[in-house]
Amino acid sequence: MKALVTGGSGFIGSNIVKLLRGEGHEVAVLDNLSSGYRSNLALFPEVQLVEGDVRDAALVNRLAQGVEVIFHLAASVGNTRSIEHPIDDSEINVIGTLRVLEAARRGGVRKVVFSSSAGIFGELKTIPIREDHPVEPDTPYGAGKLGAEKHCLAYAKLYPLQCICLRYFNVYGVNQRYDAYGNVIPIFAHRMLHGKPVTIFGDGEQTRDFVNVRDVAMANYRAGMNRGVSGAFNIASATRVTVNRLVELMAEASGIEPIVEYGPPRPGDVRHSLADVSAANKAFGFDPGVTLEIGLKEYMDWAKTALV
Ligand SMILES: NC(=O)c1ccc[n+]([C@@H]2O[C@H](COP(=O)([O-])OP(=O)(O)OC[C@H]3O[C@@H](n4cnc5c(N)ncnc54)[C@H](O)[C@@H]3O)[C@@H](O)[C@H]2O)c1
Repeated sequence: MKALVTGGSGFIGSNIVKLLRGEGHEVAVLDNLSSGYRSNLALFPEVQLVEGDVRDAALVNRLAQGVEVIFHLAASVGNTRSIEHPIDDSEINVIGTLRVLEAARRGGVRKVVFSSSAGIFGELKTIPIREDHPVEPDTPYGAGKLGAEKHCLAYAKLYPLQCICLRYFNVYGVNQRYDAYGNVIPIFAHRMLHGKPVTIFGDGEQTRDFVNVRDVAMANYRAGMNRGVSGAFNIASATRVTVNRLVELMAEASGIEPIVEYGPPRPGDVRHSLADVSAANKAFGFDPGVTLEIGLKEYMDWAKTALV
């Protein structure tokens, strides 16, 4: 199969490239390197990396020619960034997705696998969260991802193009770097490796559903190989861990004993998050198997060389 991975130099995209290459597929990447790294693809010199923007219609049309599946990950990522830059968020995440869909339709692409987010749900009302949980996004990022999902599903109705939208919960793993908008695991890892205290907001008994990036890459792969299904699906581990236990597991995985500080609970933080992934299991065999013990060991080993 010939695949195009937009955002393929980023954290999740580069893990999808690795899996696709391991399965012997031909891969091209479109990435403007705004938050991705050329070095993430260093082990795959045969992968064509086209440095460009997903909003560039002519470029995306050209790259979609002869492609069977597009894995569309290129995005302005995160709630905080979207609040600071709402127009960029929508131009890249909504219009950029439409560019990909248009190119896919014109190029005869069989399937688009779109990286959506649990951010579409907004405030979580019930757990475990199923796909029919109310969608009431509370940031431009969540609203844009929901809009992009709706475009994907409308194209799947209008044209002979299948689209699967994957709503990721908290993804972690190798190639996830620390930045100002970072997630909790890279922030804690970075601080532990630099001998700085880690701050837990609230009592630490809040729970989160962390899914390893290898499972997320496999979800993309199975969704791409699947024939016939279109729809939107939760992608998570379907297990939850308290933040206190997460820090203990990170300590065990790294051999570093962190200094833990507690801060006031952050307004808007949900108490518990847990996803139901049975729909993705039924539709395309998604079966997350990387435990936090294994995933955090891999991550901390990688972080010791990459995050210092
Ligand atoms: N990491 C998570 O926990 C998480 C959760 C939910 C959804 N997602 C989604 O998964 C996808 C991948 O996220 P990630 O965590 O790997 O982040 P990332 O920032 O590492 O990857 C995004 C990639 O897109 C590229 N990119 C950004 N704007 C672009 C543009 N205009 N044109 C071309 N390339 C562009 C970046 O350079 C980067 O390589 C995104 O769509 C994100 O919204 C991630």
